[in-house]
Amino acid sequence: MIKIQLLKPTTALLPGYVAALETGWSPDNVRKEVAAREQLHAIKTNAEAFVDALDDPSASGGPIPLPDGSSVARLPGIIRWIWDDSFSGTIGFRWQAGAAELPPYVLGHIGFSVVPWKRRNGYATQALHLMLLEAKGHGLPYVELTVAPDNLASQKVITACGGVLIERFRKTAAYGFAEAFRYRIRLED
Ligand SMILES: CC(C)(COP(=O)(O)OP(=O)(O)OC[C@H]1O[C@@H](n2cnc3c(N)ncnc32)[C@H](O)[C@@H]1OP(=O)(O)O)[C@@H](O)C(=O)NCCC(=O)NCCS
Repeated sequence: MIKIQLLKPTTALLPGYVAALETGWSPDNVRKEVAAREQLHAIKTNAEAFVDALDDPSASGGPIPLPDGSSVARLPGIIRWIWDDSFSGTIGFRWQAGAAELPPYVLGHIGFSVVPWKRRNGYATQALHLMLLEAKGHGLPYVELTVAPDNLASQKVITACGGVLIERFRKTAAYGFAEAFRYRIRLED
């Protein structure tokens, strides 16, 4: 199996990321192509600021837009790029300082996306394993991930990393009350 690494985004690594966005892939599983277009524009405007904003453990960035056009306060978060010998996808981790719980509008601690041409190689499973080590370092007792009921690939990734289905629920109004599954992965031994 090819081993991947999680790399902190840099401007030197940016061309591979831009090329992936230009194919129509999006790192945002909720706002999809709208987010991809916004990101290409932001990179053109100021590539360095764009890359810096992907690593934001102090939540210094602006508010986060939701699918219905509303916006909410940003949580501390980091985004890492999944890398084999080139750009392969993204995985993000966000958290609330001092608490495992998340505000209701935040759909999980960790989200990921692998570019279509590198899927089914175990990359997302490896990436989630690596990001859980990072989450452990923040002292959280568990992390939660939410997934659409028909997203079997993502459910397999999460269960392969110790995830347990804890509830079916409806997302908030800002997400159109879509049905979702919530998984929890315990981090304490
Ligand atoms: C979900 C996603 C990240 C999986 O990435 P990946 O690197 O292909 O995942 P892995 O290779 O680690 O596969 C994990 C498991 O899912 C299975 N799988 C992968 N794609 C699948 C598919 N389309 N249908 C069913 N199972 C699938 C794999 O076979 C593997 O199962 P196994 O361990 O039994 O062999 C990727 O499909 C993706 O980016 N999708 C769009 C974004 C998304 O849905 N993100 C998650 C939101 S919660």
